[in-house]
Amino acid sequence: MQAVQEPGQGGHEVRLASPGELREKLRSLAPKPLDPAVAEAVNAAIAAWRHEAGGLMPLLHAVQDCLGYVPAETLPVIAKALGLSRAEVHGVVSYYHHFKSNPPAAHRVELCRAEACQSMGADALLAHAEAHLGCSLHGRSVDGLVELEPVYCLGLCASAPSMMLDGQPHGRVSAQRFDSLMAEVREVRAAKGAAA
Ligand code: FES
Repeated sequence: MQAVQEPGQGGHEVRLASPGELREKLRSLAPKPLDPAVAEAVNAAIAAWRHEAGGLMPLLHAVQDCLGYVPAETLPVIAKALGLSRAEVHGVVSYYHHFKSNPPAAHRVELCRAEACQSMGADALLAHAEAHLGCSLHGRSVDGLVELEPVYCLGLCASAPSMMLDGQPHGRVSAQRFDSLMAEVREVRAAKGAAA
């Protein structure tokens, strides 16, 4: 039985956990079954990459490409399949900003941080976007609706500074243009909400 320490007068009393308490503890530690869609994505990625040297990175990319993020509950499954420790897999996921641990936000802003845009005010645009959204790069707006990410050249250098909004490129983005794009996002959401 597992020893449980309880404070007592003049030191600690030791109480043994009951079988019921131990069962409950073990149940809480047991891995939760994966959601079917998550399990399908992870199993497909494992099947594709488990026997490849250095397969962890492409496997994680495959999971994120499919689900939009790498759910925390999949890390032990991936680790076991590749013969790695959970800490190793967690270390890789948390090291690279590209890998997300939560489902993607409803909207995604990608600001170009490459040279041509830098020379045309990308830093000022980033500062404005961060103030507008209330978050930093790799973060999420205060209302949770918009995620803010960097991107490195969208091929719109002649129209710098540039950004992507939900996969749509925009050039010559001033602070005012950024605000109006965000206002459009909110208007469309409001209209859809009203129509629902
Ligand atoms: S440097 Fe920004 S689009 Fe090319």
